[in-house]
Amino acid sequence: MRIGKLLLNNHLSLAPMAGITNTVFRSTAREFGCALAFTEMISAEGLVRGNYRTEEYLRRIPPDYPLGVQLFGSDAAAFAEAARIAEARGADLIDVNMGCPAKKVLRTGGGALLMKDPAKVRSIIKAIRNAVSLPLTIKLRSGWGRPNAGEIAAIAEDCGVDAVILHPRTPEQGFSGKPDWSLIEKLKKSLRIPVIGNGDVKSAPDAVRMQETTGCDGVMIGRASMGNPWIFRQVLNYGDKGSRMPDIEEKRRVLMYNINMIMELFERKTAVLLTKQNISWYVRGLPGSSAFRREVSGAAGAQEIRSLIAKYFAKLAAPEAK
Ligand SMILES: Cc1cc2nc3c(=O)[nH]c(=O)nc-3n(C[C@H](O)[C@H](O)[C@H](O)COP(=O)(O)O)c2cc1C
Repeated sequence: MRIGKLLLNNHLSLAPMAGITNTVFRSTAREFGCALAFTEMISAEGLVRGNYRTEEYLRRIPPDYPLGVQLFGSDAAAFAEAARIAEARGADLIDVNMGCPAKKVLRTGGGALLMKDPAKVRSIIKAIRNAVSLPLTIKLRSGWGRPNAGEIAAIAEDCGVDAVILHPRTPEQGFSGKPDWSLIEKLKKSLRIPVIGNGDVKSAPDAVRMQETTGCDGVMIGRASMGNPWIFRQVLNYGDKGSRMPDIEEKRRVLMYNINMIMELFERKTAVLLTKQNISWYVRGLPGSSAFRREVSGAAGAQEIRSLIAKYFAKLAAPEAK
């Protein structure tokens, strides 16, 4: 799949998820076949002001390539300047968040509110397009009440956007109800540029079904990849005997990679939080996982967490030897 000048290894991407898709999470998804990943949404104005946390979102480790930097905001000049900064910091693609329904983002006039203002969409895209030569995408919801993703996407295509991502729920829906995949099909039929479908892809069969029923060029996966980076491999090998589930040793290795990298890259408080988050994802559904999670939550520090993990996985690998 190609987005502007960016040639991707396959059609799978990882969705931007605030508080989740940091460089370690993204690198793990890539190990199992995810071709394109995005930062969580970054405030365009925050980036321009040089806000420390915002800067942190741009941090990446070597496997984390190619990377889309997702910006949110409502001011065309700030978007243009933020895109320039992101380009200078090595971004491979810029994505504009036009779908976030969170109050915090709507208050800035950005996120899904942009879908109510086609003229603003036009000015923001033109400003970014003039500022950088990077591939440019937009990420949409279906629209407020009446779906107008098609209208917004047509403006975007006209102004030089290279691909459109659609999560076909309304902003009011949040994550409730079902996404209307038929809107992805409609969008695909109306545009020349690639369309990436998103929303409720929970398994390899879902990903295949989305592509087959909508004709979308790419499939973006979010929540289902938490603690399950293997989902990308499963989609790529679907129908093939090589598409195996991870065994306990692979789960342990991937969890430890995540924890070790998190502890190296993040300050202590964030590292502990992210570590516990990862542990709860990776042991979900495994025998004795609730008791294990309780033990971890009482642990004093990194070393103790590491040894609890080693003990837990050793017991899983050889249950009779405990
Ligand atoms: C915790 C969380 C954070 C999210 N943060 C963002 C974000 O920063 N930018 C964005 O465009 N979408 C964000 N989303 C939406 C996802 O990118 C995606 O559109 C949505 O989860 C539907 O895909 P899924 O069903 O595969 O998870 C977030 C979703 C979740 C669950």
